[in-house]
This record gives sequence, structure tokens and C-alpha cells, in this order.
Amino acid sequence: MTELDLHPVIENCLVMLQNQIKGRIDIVKQYSKSPVLINGNESKLHQAFLNILANAAQAINRKGKINIITVLGEKEVTITVTDNGCGISEDVLPKIFEPFFTTKSPGKGTGLGLSITSKIIHEHNGRIQCVSKINEGTSIIVIFPVVR
Ligand SMILES: Nc1ncnc2c1ncn2[C@@H]1O[C@H](COP(=O)(O)OP(=O)(O)OP(=O)(O)O)[C@@H](O)[C@H]1O
Ligand SMILES: [Mg+2]
Repeated sequence: MTELDLHPVIENCLVMLQNQIKGRIDIVKQYSKSPVLINGNESKLHQAFLNILANAAQAINRKGKINIITVLGEKEVTITVTDNGCGISEDVLPKIFEPFFTTKSPGKGTGLGLSITSKIIHEHNGRIQCVSKINEGTSIIVIFPVVR
């Protein structure tokens, strides 16, 4: 565990997803002015945010928008990723963190992404929440203790 800024981690994920994003999805960033510093394992956090952002891009059928907001609070940092994609129905929402749960066609998703993501976030003393409305979009909210 080392002290690291999440902004470059998120930026690296966006570079990796360029092929899925470019010309199709507007990325709107509202980053806190100061670095969002947490104690963490960079490659694990990269894996977590890569899945969150890939899910957001995959939820958008044709054209859409992904909003990334980071907030540095007194005690916590909050990262919110919101897409205006397909959304998640109320009956599916409680299952999305379960290993092997997927709504994607065979060969497209393993359903392991969010279970690994939530494990990584909990290992960093963080938590992950999801707010979604079918046909409107989804927000994934990740909260970590701040480093000071
Ligand atoms: N942003 C999102 N918009 C709509 N549905 C989502 C979103 N994020 C997750 N989901 C739902 O949660 C399910 C589980 O997500 P998860 O990342 O664990 O698996 P996956 O994306 O299907 O496969 P994998 O990540 O292993 O390739 C998805 O199949 C989808 O139904
Ligand atoms: Mg996924």
C-alpha cells in the first residue's frame, strides 16, 4: 500500500478504453482541484476503475455520456461515475455484485467484474454503492478514507 492519487489511475483507464469510447461517448470530468490521495495498491485500483468505466461504456448502446466526479472531503474521497446508458432494473440491482452475475450475452461478460471490484474497494477500507434507473442510467459511487 502506497499513497497515490486516483486521478491518474482514472485517466489511465480512459486511455485503455479509448477504442470503446471515441466518437461515441462524451466523457465529462469534474475533478477536485486537489489530488484525491488514498493509501492503495495502484494495479488493483486500476482494475476496479477499469471495470466500473467499462461497464458504463458497455451500458451505452449508441451515443451517450459518462460523467466522472471526484470530491475530496474532510475524511473521505468520493468518486462517482454516472452513465446515461440502459440502466438496471429493480430486480437485477441487488445481484450486480454477485460473482458470475451478468446480463451480457455469453462470451461478452464473465460477471466477475463488480464482485472483484467490490472486493478490491473493501480491501482499501472503502465502499461501493449503485443507484440506477432502467432506461435512464446508472451511478456507481465509490468512497475511500482520505490520506492525511
Ligand atoms: N453501468 C452499468 N449500467 C447498466 N448495467 C450495469 C452497469 N454496471 C453493471 N451493470 C450490470 O451488472 C452486471 C454485472 O457487472 P460485472 O461488471 O460484474 O459483470 P459484466 O460486466 O457482465 O462482466 P465482466 O465485467 O466480468 O466482463 C452487468 O452484467 C450488468 O447487468
Ligand atoms: Mg463488467
